[in-house]
Amino acid sequence: MENSPDETGSLRTEEVRRVLDRLHDAARWDLLRFVGLAPRLAIGFLKRKDRSEILTPSVMRNAFIPVSRESGMLLYLTARAIRATCIVEFGTSFGISTLYLAAAVRDNGGGVVIGTEIEASKHERAVANLREAGLGDLVEVRLGDALQTLKDVPDPIDLVFLDGWKGLYLPVLELLKPKLRAGGIVLADNILDFKKALRPYVEYMQSGQNGFESTTLSVAGGVEYSYCRG
Ligand SMILES: C[S@@+](CC[C@H](N)C(=O)[O-])C[C@H]1O[C@@H](n2cnc3c(N)ncnc32)[C@H](O)[C@@H]1O
Repeated sequence: MENSPDETGSLRTEEVRRVLDRLHDAARWDLLRFVGLAPRLAIGFLKRKDRSEILTPSVMRNAFIPVSRESGMLLYLTARAIRATCIVEFGTSFGISTLYLAAAVRDNGGGVVIGTEIEASKHERAVANLREAGLGDLVEVRLGDALQTLKDVPDPIDLVFLDGWKGLYLPVLELLKPKLRAGGIVLADNILDFKKALRPYVEYMQSGQNGFESTTLSVAGGVEYSYCRG
């Protein structure tokens, strides 16, 4: 077997591990942040608003709501398996998922991860975290609404990761689909956490009518794993 450029793998390097450990630890405080949001949620539900109307990006500006380590590894391993060199991510937050994706791109020999984040303070922190981990040169985190910032991503896209606000999964997918290569993969997080809101997305992916083969994995809050037939 030929030696790959990643004799040890980027996730095992001291600088990436240090940043990932710190961010996963800090994200555990999300639990308390959610407790603090309970009154706001209760009032919102009484007014018949849905979760995404109540928990807007600005209300959630201090919350990580990241992928678990398990889902992060699923991202890394998938990107490695398909030798992804062009990855697009919707919903970067503080950059935890982006770190796994960028590590994979580095270990695949180079390329680009294009992330997007609508909250300016999170965008700034994500850029700093990726730089500190030594992966900043592989990532472009675009500040703004994904439906605008992802309009001109390059093609072909090997892998798409959807993890922003749930009502936008389908519109963002439709925006990116023409650039997704045959054999490309789309991973979408929180499928079981937001079963009702994401039902149209799951139906679209699993119908067999839209160019995908797809299944829901019971990893963390549920990950829709979809293969693009092209
Ligand atoms: C679940 S978090 C992402 C977590 C991240 N993938 C991780 O693993 O660390 C969702 C993020 O999407 C961002 N977001 C929501 N709507 C957005 C939009 N329209 N465009 C870009 N980002 C958006 C939110 O501000 C939030 O930080």
